[in-house]
Amino acid sequence: MVKTNFLVIGSGVAGLTYAIKIAQRFPEKNVLIVTKSDEQESNTKYAQGGVAVVLDLEEDSFQKHIQDTLVAGDGLCDAAVVEMVIKEGPKRLKELMLWGANFDSNASGKLDLGIEGGHSEYRVVHHKDITGFEIERALLQQVHTLPNVTVLSYHFALDLITEHHLNVPKSKTISCYGAYVMDQKTGAILTIKADRTVLASGGIGRVYGHTTNPIIATGDGIAMAYRAKAEIKDMEFVQFHPTALYTHKEGSSFLISEAVRGLGGILRNKNGHRFMPDYDKRAELASRDIVSQSIDNELKKSGDTHVFLDCTHLDIAVFKNHFPNIYQECLNHNIAIEKDWIPVVPASHYLCGGIVVDKNGKTSVANLFACGECSQTGLHGANRLASNSLLEALVYAHNIFEYHAAHPAVSLYTAIPDWNDEGTSIPKEYVLIQHNLVRLQALMRDYVGIVRSNSRLTKAVRHLDLIYNEVEELYRSVKINTELCELRNMVNVAHLIIGQSLQRKHNKGGYYNVDNVQTDKDSLIKELL
Ligand code: FAD
Ligand code: SIN
Repeated sequence: MVKTNFLVIGSGVAGLTYAIKIAQRFPEKNVLIVTKSDEQESNTKYAQGGVAVVLDLEEDSFQKHIQDTLVAGDGLCDAAVVEMVIKEGPKRLKELMLWGANFDSNASGKLDLGIEGGHSEYRVVHHKDITGFEIERALLQQVHTLPNVTVLSYHFALDLITEHHLNVPKSKTISCYGAYVMDQKTGAILTIKADRTVLASGGIGRVYGHTTNPIIATGDGIAMAYRAKAEIKDMEFVQFHPTALYTHKEGSSFLISEAVRGLGGILRNKNGHRFMPDYDKRAELASRDIVSQSIDNELKKSGDTHVFLDCTHLDIAVFKNHFPNIYQECLNHNIAIEKDWIPVVPASHYLCGGIVVDKNGKTSVANLFACGECSQTGLHGANRLASNSLLEALVYAHNIFEYHAAHPAVSLYTAIPDWNDEGTSIPKEYVLIQHNLVRLQALMRDYVGIVRSNSRLTKAVRHLDLIYNEVEELYRSVKINTELCELRNMVNVAHLIIGQSLQRKHNKGGYYNVDNVQTDKDSLIKELL
């Protein structure tokens, strides 16, 4: 058995920020980060647009950012959480900069501020168009200066340890004692006992075949927490980013940042018509739910596979300076943005819901905390405002740290049994895992996409049942590997998305069901359908 004071699952912005703070505060205690790929791999690494923070108090104000967040969230945000997160933003950004993260400055030496959909002011702090890469770099560099932090890369958390695994009488309170973690290189399964466990395991994008997320985004933390009986909420609010680069392939898709529309990029259909003003007076800078639903509608009307982002009128020098990575990636696809329109299509991007936490990041399972994309804090409501995710992760990682610093953990039960894989065998083939992944992603694309209906969701339940049974049978009978565990987790996540979609009877933000009661916003979209 491995023992640690603080177990962190995930090495994105949320997990690393927490780990740095807690390790600095308690140099005599140890912090163990387990992460299932190389230590950099995360949604964080691919973040482009930046971090939304109110810095320019002449033009901007906390109140305006709060209002923009509430409007984007379509009535379902927790107003107290929104206020807390936004007001904490400048302090958390300053810390990140002290740890060495660099952000772009303007000619007067102040931080350069971008704008994205749903924001009424320029407030998005960025490092070119690779903000997440820079943040991840700085955080990892800081982590590696701390002797009491160990990072175990290629270690996959399989399940949280709760009373369910212990030989103890059932109690009303469920507590977390650590996690079972697989060394992906040897297949050995470690029992990690922790005084505190923090889930920072990120998003779920890969449940949909077509996503802006890297392949690690399989919702493992949410599935583990769900199996541990933690409260999970708002799973129907999957955010589809309007502008992923269109290619003929399924799978992870390169993002064309919303900040490109902030600079003046225009969405056109193949006839050249600028369609966004038909849907919303904010046009291309309407919030993400509206832009994605509008593109989806354009595509359904025309039967086309994609629309276009036209940047040909923009100052190319300015574009290249702010978006060098996007410029180059387009060139790699033979798209010269000064003369060619960029083909774009919505793709699954972010999960607004997740593991319910309070303002200290506490889940409904004792001793289990969660922050970042896997958590549901109340900040995003039905639709996240662009660039509020990195901000949320920074603030909640800090809040959990503060809570842990103020409330030392009580040492818990020690007799934790090792992982039991009796009765499993090495199978002759693992191809069923791949088949079921393809079936799962097709089901989510066809029945649980941007626009849903009761009949499609009901079909999804039936199809998912078949996949679930096959995957569970495999899981119980064969020696597990990463792919099988990820698939099992994605099936759990799909179950939550579909089930919670069926429960939502009013369309809100990123959730749109044609059979639901209409609201003012969706009447416009429906008229156009
Ligand atoms: P992640 O950064 O995804 O980290 C999760 C970590 O958990 C990873 O290290 C992963 O390997 C690990 N992990 C997962 N499961 C397991 C397991 N079973 N065992 C062990 N380890 C595990 N947000 C913004 O605010 N601004 C932006 O500009 C922005 N741009 C984006 C662009 C793209 C292309 C994408 C995909 C997202 C973007 N987002 C943006 C969203 C934002 O990047 C993420 O929501 C945020 O980085 C999530 O951070 P996190 O720490 O919660 O999770
Ligand atoms: C983007 O750069 O468009 C992504 C921003 C975000 O997801 O918040």
